[in-house]
Amino acid sequence: MRRRALLVPRARGEAVRRAMVDAGALAVDLEILAEGDQLALPLRDGADPSPEWGAVGERDFPELPAPVRSEFRDLLGWTEEAKALLPRSFDVVGEIVLIRLPVELEERRFEVGEALLRFVPGSRLVGLDRGVEGAERLRQVERIAGAGSWQTRHRENHLEFDVDVRRAYFSPRLAREHALVADEVREGEHVYDLCCGVGPFSVTIARDGRARSVTAVDANPAAIELMDRTLARYPFGGRVSPRVATVEEFAPHAKPVERVIVNLPREGIKYATLVAPLVAPRGSLQYYEVVPRDEVAQRGNVVERALSSVAPFRVRSVRVVHPYSPSRDLIGIAADRGTT
Ligand SMILES: C[S@@+](CC[C@H](N)C(=O)[O-])C[C@H]1O[C@@H](n2cnc3c(N)ncnc32)[C@H](O)[C@@H]1O
Repeated sequence: MRRRALLVPRARGEAVRRAMVDAGALAVDLEILAEGDQLALPLRDGADPSPEWGAVGERDFPELPAPVRSEFRDLLGWTEEAKALLPRSFDVVGEIVLIRLPVELEERRFEVGEALLRFVPGSRLVGLDRGVEGAERLRQVERIAGAGSWQTRHRENHLEFDVDVRRAYFSPRLAREHALVADEVREGEHVYDLCCGVGPFSVTIARDGRARSVTAVDANPAAIELMDRTLARYPFGGRVSPRVATVEEFAPHAKPVERVIVNLPREGIKYATLVAPLVAPRGSLQYYEVVPRDEVAQRGNVVERALSSVAPFRVRSVRVVHPYSPSRDLIGIAADRGTT
């Protein structure tokens, strides 16, 4: 079937596929084509592709056989009214499935867990996700089906990360963000990845090979231990220097570098003045915040003012990474330091 196609390098294929699914832009009834180093992903009719995803062309795509069941909720013999309360989406982290449920369905959580275990190929454990808590953003999960530990290996952007769903923060929804930010790194740069978690930014940047050094800092020792395990499996692992430290401990003694990533979105602007001096003249800062949706448009100016109280900065872009709650968005802000 002839359709518009997104043409993307293989390395970014999974991140773009996921973003297309999230945006409802992927034609899920058609097969993805592998063409040497690139993939051709079929666009749904009428979809409006983001320019960041890649170039648009046209291809003939084979049709996929119709799935026997289109959604996991079809596995539950529930009334349509009860099924309507179920979320359409869930997260898959390695062999672990995570789902959030409205309070009305908590009593029936084990039925949902069993349905997901049957629905998601390769899954072995299903957790009820009650969100992240505390400074280390640890996920509060309850086993609702399956067995085994909360440790797993998760594939993203053609890399495999050691993850422990309960001991260190990880979100499979950031795969595209990790790839986009890694793509921006220029030859020879020194990079600080602050609040690095299990290291998805750092490991992706090290794999791509342009950075001269990557220093990855997190306050949670379990996150650094998991990153160490991931790095030990790759020949480029030695390019990352992991450190257990808070940003407050690390920043006062650190030399300015060409690129700084700060991913502690709930604390938002609190860290702007602390990290601004870590960005060398002509360097860049990639900053994350969770903000009310109606403040997104103004946020670039607010952050630029806070950074400029320390050194001259210009905000280059403000992007919504994904919705965070019904009224708030996770945003990524890119800012460049001037020379004066
Ligand atoms: C939202 S997670 C980001 C994880 C990672 N960058 C990613 O993309 O998966 C925030 C991380 O910041 C760490 N953290 C919280 N407060 C911190 C602080 N003051 N200094 C350093 N790390 C901190 C937490 O342990 C957690 O791993």
